[in-house]
Amino acid sequence: VTGQPIDLTAALARFDQLWSPRIVARVNDYDVRIAKVAGEHIWHAHAHTDEFFLVLDGVLHIALRDPAGDGAERVVVLSRGEIFVVPAGAEHRPSAPAGASILMFEPTGTSTVGERHDPVPGHVDVTPGHPLPAG
Ligand code: NI
Repeated sequence: VTGQPIDLTAALARFDQLWSPRIVARVNDYDVRIAKVAGEHIWHAHAHTDEFFLVLDGVLHIALRDPAGDGAERVVVLSRGEIFVVPAGAEHRPSAPAGASILMFEPTGTSTVGERHDPVPGHVDVTPGHPLPAG
């Protein structure tokens, strides 16, 4: 066994790009990703997978549309240490007015914008996650 502990605070200090997740670990066929976020992401949905969020620092908002509903929206507000799971198929739009650092857990290859999404602005990285830069 060659693995070493990963300090998430140190890992976050190795990159600055917003809305651009870095893969810090793999668990079977899932990635553990961390990201720095600020401002708004875009409305999108992952057709085939749930998406797990843990807030490491700051406050993350996730706007949600009920997939079975009439388009009604709600916003969950997550503070440091709080988790939330966006169900597969649910349209969601993360945002962080004052900035946040987050951890996501989802199947390897999952795109940051899912399969259905609004037009992608320049500040949103379309990616299945990048390797963490060497420290
Ligand atoms: Ni998502």
